[in-house]
Amino acid sequence: MQENMKGIFISMEGPDGSGKSTQIELLKAYLEDKGYEIIITREPGGTVISEDIRRIILNKDYAEMGYMTEALLYASARAQLVTEVIKPALEAGKAVISDRFVDSSAVYQGMARGLGVETAYQINSYAIQGIMPQLTIHLDLPAQVGISRKKNQAELDRMELEAIDFHERVAEGYRKLASLDPDRIKTIDATMSIDDIHGKIVDYVEPLVKK
Ligand code: TMP
Repeated sequence: MQENMKGIFISMEGPDGSGKSTQIELLKAYLEDKGYEIIITREPGGTVISEDIRRIILNKDYAEMGYMTEALLYASARAQLVTEVIKPALEAGKAVISDRFVDSSAVYQGMARGLGVETAYQINSYAIQGIMPQLTIHLDLPAQVGISRKKNQAELDRMELEAIDFHERVAEGYRKLASLDPDRIKTIDATMSIDDIHGKIVDYVEPLVKK
């Protein structure tokens, strides 16, 4: 995060079905209790334009979408979100919790699609404008468990419809990324109970909370 920003930026990452949304709601309540104004957002999405881009990216009729197109569309949605929502919120001292951020591109496009992690971050360097989360929570879950959960909830989108080995590369990719940046990315076993996971998240968030 840039030096002149007063807020807190936390991203939540993990394979599809890892329970990010539930944990984001609990974290929101915790931070509100600490007196923060909270902005919750998601990627791809979080602005009118970015939600439109999301519909294109996840449309399961677009089986022909190239990996580079996909990567650039995620970056475009992100650029709009950073400019319109994340940057102003951080400048105003708010706490931003994002359901996915640039690490999703590093893992899904960089590792699982095979574009390379460096390429994924390079593509995104304009989009994020120097803004990175202070803390990233990685909810670690076997790919099969996540996809089974998703199947029970709703119709699968273009990414969720990928074969299981793609989702295994995602799950493994997150573990690898977390091991490369252990100060920022904290891994939590997402097969634990909702309350236990929340407790671990609070342990990591507490030092960031301004007294
Ligand atoms: P969601 O279902 O968690 O909202 O995320 C949408 C899908 O997009 C999910 O399968 C992960 C994927 N994704 C990427 O491949 N790259 C990205 O940069 C982001 C933000 C999401």
